[in-house]
Amino acid sequence: MMIFFKYKTFSIISVSFFCLAISNCSFVSNANSIGQVDTTLKAIAPFPVGGAVKINLLRNDRLYRNLLIKEYNSLTAENAMKFVALHPGKDSYRWEDADYIVNFALDNNIRVHGHTLIWPRVNPPWVTTFKGSRNDWKRMLKTHIQTVVKHFKGKVKSWDVVNEAFEDNGTYKDNVWLRNIGKDYIELCFKYAREADPNVLLFYNDYGHEYSTKKLQAVLNLVKDFKSRNIPIDGLGLQMHTVVRVTDLKIKNAINAVASTGLLIHLSELEVAINYQQPKSFIPDKTLLDRQASKYASIVKAYLSIPKKQQYGITTWNVGDKDSWKNSKGRNHDHPLLFDYQYQPKPAYKAFKLAAEGKQ
Ligand code: G3I
Repeated sequence: MMIFFKYKTFSIISVSFFCLAISNCSFVSNANSIGQVDTTLKAIAPFPVGGAVKINLLRNDRLYRNLLIKEYNSLTAENAMKFVALHPGKDSYRWEDADYIVNFALDNNIRVHGHTLIWPRVNPPWVTTFKGSRNDWKRMLKTHIQTVVKHFKGKVKSWDVVNEAFEDNGTYKDNVWLRNIGKDYIELCFKYAREADPNVLLFYNDYGHEYSTKKLQAVLNLVKDFKSRNIPIDGLGLQMHTVVRVTDLKIKNAINAVASTGLLIHLSELEVAINYQQPKSFIPDKTLLDRQASKYASIVKAYLSIPKKQQYGITTWNVGDKDSWKNSKGRNHDHPLLFDYQYQPKPAYKAFKLAAEGKQ
């Protein structure tokens, strides 16, 4: 027995030294220079992990900035790169906020995903009141897209070229571009963006793939049509603004369906709402937080099941519950994200990482 014990002791000591030795080697992917294992989202996940950032918090909130630097290797500007923010007047552009975000990202080795060149819903008044011929509208569209894409060339890795062009029933959403150019405004956006930068990755971004088969089919038809006519497109963004009650199967089917296109797949605005119209005072209990954690884990697992070369990343829409768009003025209160109101990790944070490691 003693012999066994002696060898057992020896083996434990030797294994311990072996592990310590390994952790100091460069090939332990998450070890830092003093052998501490980095257990952050970006270190654990085998795909880029991003957050949609608010410019005012990025400028003014040290805790927010440090959390972004520590946990994320991708970011999306929540609003600062939209048409209305960048191009407030026909001949005037505002680059300050977007440039600040891009410079912060590049200084901290964080990838930038551009959101969004054309979103039918959010345009400045000078666009929505513009009067002109179809060619005038096409010229306006081309000028905006190519000015913006060229401004960020070499800094922004990818763009949501068009955001939310379809209704849930799969028809085209009514908007100034559709009315004044026609449905081919969508392909023109992708062509103009590709002309401006041959290397930037071009995405079509939308929500509802997990609950609307008609919208999902409209997106798949768009990709099939683009491919048949060599219209440039590199990826699809599934916003995945989902809620805890949506079934895992619906989410998995949506992710698999878009992955069948062979394009890059970005879960671009992930959140799992849990509130169901409760008052602002509502605090989710452990049961609800655990249900949310389980949903995040199932989404990550579904995402990991698509080919690795198609995994463009998972971006949550905002960073903590405190800065969630869902808690902005006049909206329903919720707790949809991985970090709570004090930017502390929630059960969803741990579940996200365990699933990303393949341990859930
Ligand atoms: O910047 C103005 C400010 O000058 C003004 O005083 C204030 C008062 O109205 O409005 C500010 O603009 C607001 C902007 O957010 C910046 O805070 C707009 O009113 C407000 O409508 C806008 O909401 C954003 C919304 O998109 C519309 O652009 C949300 O923050 C943002 O989270 C939301 O994000 C969208 C994605 O882009 C696309 N997918 C859906 C997602 C959620 O709706």
